[in-house]
Amino acid sequence: MTRTALITGITGQDGSYLAELLIEQGYHVVGMTRRSSTSGQERIAHLDGQLELVQGDLLDQASLVEALRSSKPHEVYNLAAQSFVPTSWNQPVLTGEFTALGVTRLLEAIRQVDPTIRFYQASSSEMFGQVQVSPQDESTPFHPRSPYGVAKVYGHLLTVNYRESYGIFAVSGICFNHESPRRGLEFVTRKVTDGVARIKAGLTDELRLGNLAAQRDWGFAGDYVRAMWLMLQNDEPRDYVIATGHTHTVRELCEVAFAHAGLDYRDHVIEDAKYLRPAEVDHLLGDASRARADLGWNPQVSFQELVQMMVDADRARLERALPAGAASVG
Ligand code: NAP
Ligand code: GDD
Repeated sequence: MTRTALITGITGQDGSYLAELLIEQGYHVVGMTRRSSTSGQERIAHLDGQLELVQGDLLDQASLVEALRSSKPHEVYNLAAQSFVPTSWNQPVLTGEFTALGVTRLLEAIRQVDPTIRFYQASSSEMFGQVQVSPQDESTPFHPRSPYGVAKVYGHLLTVNYRESYGIFAVSGICFNHESPRRGLEFVTRKVTDGVARIKAGLTDELRLGNLAAQRDWGFAGDYVRAMWLMLQNDEPRDYVIATGHTHTVRELCEVAFAHAGLDYRDHVIEDAKYLRPAEVDHLLGDASRARADLGWNPQVSFQELVQMMVDADRARLERALPAGAASVG
C-alpha cells in the first residue's frame, strides 16, 4: 500500500529536500502551504505534478484538522516554523504562536483525526543555547538564548508529552544547523556564499556580518531529511540529535567560501554591530552517536564540500541572471 506523508513547511529548505526523498521512496506526498499573495513555491517548483498541496496554517486549528482529514497521512513531518532567530526578538509573540503553540495545534489535530499517525517535530540545537558541556547530546540540558529557542523547547517538550500522555508515535530530531543552495538568504552560510558570488560578479565589494567568532556544527540539509525519515521508520519512538560532530567559526566559513572563488575574505568582510544579537549562542557541537547506532545515520557531505557546493550554486545562479559575461569579473 502506498504510504502518505503530510509535510508542513514544504516550501522551506528542508520541506523541499524531504519531499524529494519521500517521492523517491514511493510515498504520496502532501504539502501544507499557507495562503500568500505571491506563490513562494520556488523550492518545490521542480516537483510540480509529483506532490499534492493542501492549504493550512499553524495558526488555524480547523485548517490543520481539515488537512489531516483530506490527506489521511500515515506520517506527519512538522517542519513549519518562524525559523530565523533574529526575527524572534522582533516578533516574539508570533514566533511563539507558530513555533511553539503550532505544535500543540497539530498534535491536537492528530489526536482528534487519527492518533496512529506518526509525527516528526523539527527540534533545534538552538534549545541548547548557552552550553555548559560539549559536545551536546540528547541528555544535555537546555538553555535557549532567543524567543525562537524558547519556542522550540516548548514544541520539543510537548512532543515528548504527547508521546507519554497519549502513546502517539511522536518524535523530535534535535537538528544542528543544516544548509544547502536552497537555504534562505538571511542565514549566515547563504549570506556568505551569495556575498562571494556578488563580489566575484563585481556587483559589490563588501560583505557586512555580525559575530565572526560564533561556532556552529554545519551539515547538508539533504543528509538531515534522511534522518527525519529514518526516525519515523524506527521500531520505538525516540528523540535524536542530528549533527556532523564538527564545529567551525563564521570566520572559517568565510575563509573557505571566499578562497573557493579565489578571494581573501579579509579584503571584503566587515564586522558590523548591526548584526550582533541581544544574546548569542557562541558554540554548538553535536554528538549524533545515538542516531548512528540506532538508525545507521551518517552525514555524507563535509563542511568544505557543503560550502563549495553553495558558492558554486550561487555563482551559477548569478551567471544565469546577469547579462552574458557579467558574472565572471576578476
Ligand atoms: P525555512 O526554510 O524557514 O522554512 C520554514 C517553513 O515554514 C516555510 O515553508 C514556511 O512557509 C513555513 N511556515 C512558517 N510559518 C507558517 C505557518 N504559520 N503556517 C504554515 N507554514 C508556515 O526553514 P528550514 O530551514 O527548512 O527548517 C525547517 C524546520 O526545521 C523549521 O521548523 C526550523 O525551525 C527547524 N530547524 C532548522 C534547522 C536548520 O538549520 N535549517 C535546524 C534545526 C531546526 P512560507 O514559505 O509560507 O513562509
Ligand atoms: N544570520 C546571520 N547574519 N548570522 C550571522 C551573521 C550575519 O550577518 N554574522 C554572524 N552570524 C552568526 C550568528 O550570530 C550565529 O551565531 C551564526 O552566525 C549562525 O546564524 P544563522 O545562520 O542565522 O543560524 P542560527 O544558528 O541562528 O539558526 C539556524 O540554526 C538553528 C539550529 O541551530 C536556524 O536555521 C534555526 O532555525 C535553527 O534552529
